This record gives sequence, C-alpha cells and structure tokens, in this order.
Amino acid sequence: MKFTRAKALKGSLTVPGDKSISHRAVMFGALADGLTEVEGFLPGADCLSTIDCFRRMGISVERPNATRLLIHGKGLHGLTGPSDTLDAGNSGTTTRLLSGILSGQTFETTLTGDASIRKRPMNRIIEPLSRMGASIESLPGNGCAPLKIQGRSLHGIHYATKVASAQVKSAILLAGLYGDSPTSVTEPALSRNHTELMLCSFGARVRTEGTTASIEPHPHLVGQKISVPGDISSAAYFLAAGCITPDSELLIRHVGINPTRDGILRVLKRMGADVTVFPADTKSEEPVADLLVKTSHLRGCILEGDLIPALIDEIPVIAVLACFAEGTTVIRDAAELKVKESNRIDVMVDNLSAMGAHITATEDGMIIEGGYPLHGAAIDSHLDHRIAMSFAIAGLNADGETAIAGAECVNISYPGFYGDLKGCT
Ligand code: S3P
Repeated sequence: MKFTRAKALKGSLTVPGDKSISHRAVMFGALADGLTEVEGFLPGADCLSTIDCFRRMGISVERPNATRLLIHGKGLHGLTGPSDTLDAGNSGTTTRLLSGILSGQTFETTLTGDASIRKRPMNRIIEPLSRMGASIESLPGNGCAPLKIQGRSLHGIHYATKVASAQVKSAILLAGLYGDSPTSVTEPALSRNHTELMLCSFGARVRTEGTTASIEPHPHLVGQKISVPGDISSAAYFLAAGCITPDSELLIRHVGINPTRDGILRVLKRMGADVTVFPADTKSEEPVADLLVKTSHLRGCILEGDLIPALIDEIPVIAVLACFAEGTTVIRDAAELKVKESNRIDVMVDNLSAMGAHITATEDGMIIEGGYPLHGAAIDSHLDHRIAMSFAIAGLNADGETAIAGAECVNISYPGFYGDLKGCT
C-alpha cells in the first residue's frame, strides 16, 4: 500500500466498534444464561477469533450482519471441551482472557495463535492462574503459547500485578468466577476497566477501589443487550491525521471515551491540539462522544506514569504526531510496548528514522525531536496493525512515496481503514 502527501482531510466518519468491548461481549455473553444481543460489534480478525473459540466450545453465535451478534449463552458451566486446539490468531486479549476462563472448566484445552502470539509473554497469566490452582503449561517451555490448560476447581486469591495490564487483570477476575472465595487484583496503575463494568452489567458482583478490583465467585450471569461504542484507539489515527494535515477538519462520531482509555485526548490537549469533545447524552456505563479535530499547531510533551495505560495502544501514532510538534516529546514508563504485536519501540524508531525523523529509543520509551520534515520510505509493518495505520498517517504528511509492507494487517482491528481514510481526502 502506497501513500503520498494529502492536501486536506475533511468530512465525518464513524470508526468501527471497540475491540476490547467486542471481545468481552462475546465472552461474557457465552458465560451468561440466555440471549446476549450485541450491536456495533467490531468485525476485525481478533474479535472473530474470539467468536470462533466459543463456537468450538458449543456456543451458538449468530451474525445477522457484520456488526450484530446474537449469542446464545449457556451459563457459567455451559462450555463443552473443544475437539481441537483453540486458535486465538493474533489476539492477546483472546489468549489471556480465555486462559482465565479455561482454567475454571472441567475439560482440557490447548490454546495457540499466530507467530506473533507465540512470542508474547504468558508467564504473567500462568503465574497467577497457577496460584489459583489452575494447571496451565507453556508447551514449548518458554512461557509462551501454545498453552495446555486443564480446568480445575480454583481458589480465590489476592494478586498484585507487576504491570498495569487489563488482559492480566481480566484473566484473573474471570478465573475468579470459578473460585471458592473472592478474588482481587491490585495493579500498579489503573488499566482499562471494561471487564469490571461489563461483568457487573451481566450480574456479577465486582467492586473497585483505587487500582484494586474484586470479584465474588459463582454469580448468575444473565444475557444482556450491548451497544459497542466506536474504538478510541481507531479514532486516534483520524485525530492525529486531522491535527497534522493542513486545512483539515474531521468529525469522528460515537467514540467511546471511557476515562481509562482517554489518554490520547488528554495528550492532544497538552500538545495544544484543536480537538472538541461533544459528549453524547447516554446512560451507558461506557461514555460516548463525537470528536471534532482541526489542523493544529502542536508542541512536544512528556508522557509517563499512570497516563501510559490509558493510551498504550495509541503510542505509535503519538510518536508520529510528535514528529510534527514543536520541541521534544519524551515517552517513558512504556516498556510494555516491547511485548505488543511487535516491539513497538524498535519498530517505530526504525521506521520513523527511515522517514527522516529525529527519534531515539530508550529502555522504556522513546524521545522525539519534532520539526524535522518526513520523507517517504519503505515501511515494514511487522504485520502489526497499529504500526501500519500509524505510517499511513505519516505517509499522508511526508514528501514522496511511503510504501507499507504487510498493510492488510489493519484487518485485525480496523477492516475498512484505508477506505475510510481515502473518504476523507
Ligand atoms: C487490551 C489490553 C491492552 C491493550 C490491548 C487490549 C484488552 O493490553 O494493549 O490492545 O482488551 O484488555 P495489556 O493488557 O497487555 O496492556
């Protein structure tokens, strides 16, 4: 896929449904009694992997159209052992959350994924789930998938995680559904809280206090109607493009702005971006807004600490933004970037350097000197969707031609991304 400089971006769009919420809707719908109806589901490859895993465990999931699901849940103990290995594809959320659920079943499963998933660290869930009494083993013995999980009766624990990770927190809370006493998780900083919010709406007793979430075991979960808001992580590419492309004005409709996910909005404000938030009048526990962005004069800033989990997936496109800001942007406390779908520190630094950016990798982030114009280059996406989308935005604001290898990987979280982007030019 090739990109050249855009003159202006105009118009309005609705980005696809939130990936984290879509995964959870399928999982919790499967574990609830009765029908769960989902609208605004993200038809990306990751969420389709989650559907496939649950279908293999006996759950009927109808898709009357791409974004609407009817999940016929069978209750907390209704899953049946799959006849084959479960495949999470590229999806860390599927792998880790499902591991928590599988730990409490009465059958054995093997869970694997693509080449990227088989390199990502799973000891962060193996350790706490084993402490709960689960039998969970990394088959290659390197702490990575494939994982062999023999369901057991589990014990409630209190666990303090080393990293702020919603996937780890959620895996433990989901195993906690099958515990013999309450389970709680304390994180070093608050990660996205979709699991806590949605499990409550299905009827679980989940309490949160600061960075601790606790769950009571064996709730009666009941099917729900779920409306999935647009994914702020997908909106981020259009927010960034609107800021740095001359003469631009974009309205992005119906975006989820949960405070555990809105770090990108906080950073854009700090950088001086012209972004207006129009909150929707909804009673949903997941707040929604329309976002209006106009071409902006940006300044560099420091991103660190508790802010990082609220924008972890947006850091690649923030690095692109920082190239167009006046002054220096420092990103720290973000070592987690190294264990995402690719090593997002190295991949951003290599690719942005190839385009002429002044960017340095650090142990836990990167430093970007803004104001050096970008030129086109050959970009390796490493089949990481967020890298491909970030460089599409960079390419629209660079001299010459930017060619992205593996560009189709955007289907993981945003099928139709290139079409939506073209629609704004
Ligand atoms: C996610 C949590 C985050 C995020 C990922 C989705 C989730 O990962 O990067 O894209 O849905 O829980 P970590 O929990 O590893 O930080």
